[in-house]
Amino acid sequence: MSSALTDLFPLPIVQAPMAGGVSVPQLAAAVCEAGGLGFLAAGYKTADGMYQEIKQLRSLTGRPFGVNVFMPQPEYADPAAVDVYAHQLAGEATWYEAELGDPESGRDDGYEAKLVVLRDNPVPVVSFHFGAPSREVVDALHRVGTFVLVTATTPDEARAVERAGADAVIAQGIEAGGHQGTHRDVPETDGSGIGLLSLVAQIREAVNIPIIAAGGIMRGGQIAAVLAAGASAAQLGTAFLATHESGANALHKQALTNPLFVRTELTRAFSGRPARGLVNRFLREHGPYAPAAYPEIHHLTSPLRKAAAQAGDAQGMALWAGQGHRMARELPAGQLVEVLAGELAAARTALSGGGVR
Ligand SMILES: Cc1cc2nc3c(=O)[nH]c(=O)nc-3n(C[C@H](O)[C@H](O)[C@H](O)COP(=O)(O)O)c2cc1C
Repeated sequence: MSSALTDLFPLPIVQAPMAGGVSVPQLAAAVCEAGGLGFLAAGYKTADGMYQEIKQLRSLTGRPFGVNVFMPQPEYADPAAVDVYAHQLAGEATWYEAELGDPESGRDDGYEAKLVVLRDNPVPVVSFHFGAPSREVVDALHRVGTFVLVTATTPDEARAVERAGADAVIAQGIEAGGHQGTHRDVPETDGSGIGLLSLVAQIREAVNIPIIAAGGIMRGGQIAAVLAAGASAAQLGTAFLATHESGANALHKQALTNPLFVRTELTRAFSGRPARGLVNRFLREHGPYAPAAYPEIHHLTSPLRKAAAQAGDAQGMALWAGQGHRMARELPAGQLVEVLAGELAAARTALSGGGVR
């Protein structure tokens, strides 16, 4: 990794930004204090909401941290498809005694306003999901001393990230929990996502910038594996979702290791864009015909998901999780970083000839 970027955090462990109230300032601070890189998620927040969280995080830690921003969506959804889906969800609205949300509640997630805040109040690292920002945006962040990271799910996307001038690429494998950060949502390519180890190796040969590997990583041994494959650090979401400081709903945390939830699936059921979650009733019933319409479907289902959480019904919530969810450990986040670092050191010793079990 570019030496200055590595210098920001001593351990090659990044806590993934998790929108929806999961990666709260307390979680990011605990990770930063333990030697990893903590992240705030600006997704679904207003620019001011993001700024308030940055101020809160700064009051909890003096260490470097990151802020994640969603790229605006270029594709416009077919309103007729959104309408049909809304009709199909009518029974859910009745069941949860909720109104469906307005699909036209905004498409750019306050992108420009967030950039203004991040340029006027610089933070150490900004990462982008769902596409690469323009060269001008990257240059402007560099001018205020901010490192820029961008998610890629294919070697081609990684090349676009490098061309945009980013400092590192986040290689997100198909195992990853939450939304796939594909640069464009192309339904024809559904199911063709690349597994993390293969993706890291392919991106390593496609670009010269450092790689941060994300997807299904729950143990230090897996971090050693992605480092050996050419990554400079690992980004973990689901592993941190289960920690004490995570702001995830208690039902979501419990579901990760509840034997009732046996597998995860990529689905458009909740947001209109492929995201990996535990298979529950809502995903099973609506996933098969949910249209490619992000963020319209996100807005449409938002009140349903809130009502399900309020009713204590995990079968109606978006239970984002990566494929490694059963290995989640309910620890304080700082302790999880220490445990991961210990496992990583042991695995590296084994890999360097100390004997592999
Ligand atoms: C609950 C949840 C929310 C997420 N929200 C975001 C987000 O706001 N921005 C982002 O870049 N990635 C987000 N992700 C994806 C992570 O950055 C990362 O790719 C993923 O967690 C890695 O896979 P893992 O969960 O198996 O560790 C989210 C993941 C989860 C589980």
